[in-house]
Amino acid sequence: MSDSTTLKMDVPVPASLLDAGTQGLIGRPLDRIDGPLKVAGRATYSAEYALPNLAYGFLVQAKVGRARVTGIDTAAALEMPGVLDVVIDLDTFIRNPQQGGSNKAPTQGVEEIHYFGQVVAIVVAETFEQARDAAARVHVALEDKPGLFEFDARLEEAHKPKGGSTEPHVATGDPDRALAEAPVVLDAVWTTPSQNSAAMEPHASTAVWEGDALTVYGSYQMPASDKQQLAQALGMKPNKVRIISAYVGGGFGSKLGIAPEVVAAALAARKLGRPVKTVMSRQQVFDATVRRSNTHQRIRLGAGADGRLTTVVHETVSSNIEGEEYFEPAGVSTHFLYAGENRRITHDLLPMDWLLSGSMRAPGEAAGMLALEAAMDEFAEKLGMDPVELRKINDPEQDPLKGVPFSTRQLTRCLDEGAAAFGWKDRNPTPGARREGEWLVGHGMAASARSNHLQESQARVSIGADGRATVETDMTDIGTGTYTILAQITGELLGLRPEWIDVRLGDTDTPPGAGSGGSWGASSSGSSVYLACEALRAKIATAMGCAEEELTLKDGRAIAQNRSVPLSSLVGEGLSAEGTIKPGKLEEERRQASYGAHFCEVRVNAVTGEVRVNRFVSTFAAGRILNEKTARSQCIGGIVFGIGAALTEELVHDPRSGRVVNHDLAEYHVPVNADVPHIEVHFLPERDQFANPLQSKGLGELGISGAGAAVANAIYNATGVRIRDYPLTLDKLL
Ligand code: MOS
Repeated sequence: MSDSTTLKMDVPVPASLLDAGTQGLIGRPLDRIDGPLKVAGRATYSAEYALPNLAYGFLVQAKVGRARVTGIDTAAALEMPGVLDVVIDLDTFIRNPQQGGSNKAPTQGVEEIHYFGQVVAIVVAETFEQARDAAARVHVALEDKPGLFEFDARLEEAHKPKGGSTEPHVATGDPDRALAEAPVVLDAVWTTPSQNSAAMEPHASTAVWEGDALTVYGSYQMPASDKQQLAQALGMKPNKVRIISAYVGGGFGSKLGIAPEVVAAALAARKLGRPVKTVMSRQQVFDATVRRSNTHQRIRLGAGADGRLTTVVHETVSSNIEGEEYFEPAGVSTHFLYAGENRRITHDLLPMDWLLSGSMRAPGEAAGMLALEAAMDEFAEKLGMDPVELRKINDPEQDPLKGVPFSTRQLTRCLDEGAAAFGWKDRNPTPGARREGEWLVGHGMAASARSNHLQESQARVSIGADGRATVETDMTDIGTGTYTILAQITGELLGLRPEWIDVRLGDTDTPPGAGSGGSWGASSSGSSVYLACEALRAKIATAMGCAEEELTLKDGRAIAQNRSVPLSSLVGEGLSAEGTIKPGKLEEERRQASYGAHFCEVRVNAVTGEVRVNRFVSTFAAGRILNEKTARSQCIGGIVFGIGAALTEELVHDPRSGRVVNHDLAEYHVPVNADVPHIEVHFLPERDQFANPLQSKGLGELGISGAGAAVANAIYNATGVRIRDYPLTLDKLL
């Protein structure tokens, strides 16, 4: 029998069972329980499933920016050794409702290519090499059409998008008048380029049919919703699709939704009656999954001479394929980060024949705070104020846009403690004043903020007759530590050691979980596990014949009223319960976000312009920390992304075709070990009773938010050069 507990976050949860603390697991920096499997090569990733009778697919791309497909000649490919078939289903490929993409109307025979590298067919062969070789011999006949490859010159054509989770245009007060009246004003434009998530593991899928039921071994962040997308793309019922995604080598947004390889693999497997594995090459991941959109951001700030903001205007333009409505929500943190009774934040969208835009780590904040936090630095200088001080005096009492209270907000304390840990008081505010030989040394800082969200999530927890527990949910571990955290929560609530707990993730035949996205994964899936364990505790209390409050569970034993028995003796054949967490009114009634402060030191070579990040210290407040090691790793990883955004990361689009020119890791420069200094991360103690029963908040995308601006601000302090076009490559500094 499986009972279930559901909690909707309409009211705060002031007391948490996690504070009972019989196992002392919560917050402990436990190593990842899946770590040994991964380093030993025994964690099976999506491209590694060895199935009998497997055939290999390789994607065929249209090598043109905007065109109409007039024919696909497969004769030469079909003659190649080992080739089984070339599967073409343009309607399904082109309408592929991948992440960020809408499900377009049927193309009715007019097959439009909207970006260079779009997938049009799949070659299937006995080996991967044969398929790849033959794919190069498929001839796609195309009729070129004029394309939209120019961004800057067409900015006025940007339109207000329909809007999804973020309202595209918001305003309060009278920002134009307030700006005109403000004694001190800043008005400047920042740009950020297209970026790629560049997850370590490329997208890969193996599709197997049994009758009309499809199983996919794939690499996903959100199996529960990916299953829906895949069913929609293939025109089948979701309950006939099973996704297995046990280990995922990073996603950072690029695996929130399905990508072309799974649709192609599924179609080919159905046609051939054989399992088909399709692995995207690194170049195909860059060409044909999703990008973070480039942005154009104009920021205007108005304040009195005392630095108190009266006006915040943040107008942004991002880009996407014509007809797509997803926009980069670059102004989301500007909604609430600083005071100012007059504000306007807009998101407009410019159609481009560039690769589809979608989410990449901290969609919104990551790009938006590169601008906002650099603007705050410039404004502080204009006001003759310390940039930490400017942020502190503009730390609002309540959400300045919606007029609702914050849940927990410790921005000022992050700024103060971060400044102390870094030694900010020793910084010389005069740009270019500190030089050590050839190197100019500078210090910069920025705030961090990332909205906190809860996602509906369900989990089942069972205790077997042997007293071991099993956790099941289709939640994923994308390298973030989900396996470990869910074991810690289960262990704490059921009084079990982590090694007595089996956590099974990423299989859509188990209860649908939150998935890993939007920094909600740990809190949402953790809350569902918490609720399942709470229900189990009630059952155990009944079996013990005691009240729940009297029950102590510790080291596999149930203890109450001077009686202590092994859990296994109470559960009979086994006990099971399900937990479901749902977002509720508190997301609207309280502005929920995690906060932080970044401080860094850079060295800029006065001769070559080379930038080295020398030191990085960040302080974060993100509710209860569930595992200090995995949390720290998330924050460090985010900061590394921020360093990349500041200094090197940029997808270069060919102005003639929109083609991503630098479509691999040799040409798209993510920071490597030598680019990253020791990063010091501090967490402030915090409990957020408005967020969820764990009282935790998201932090997977907190580290990246603001981090790049701290680097930019430090470069200015080192050199006196303000660059507003990211990335800040050395050619722009000289
Ligand atoms: Mo995130 S961009 O929601 O993986």
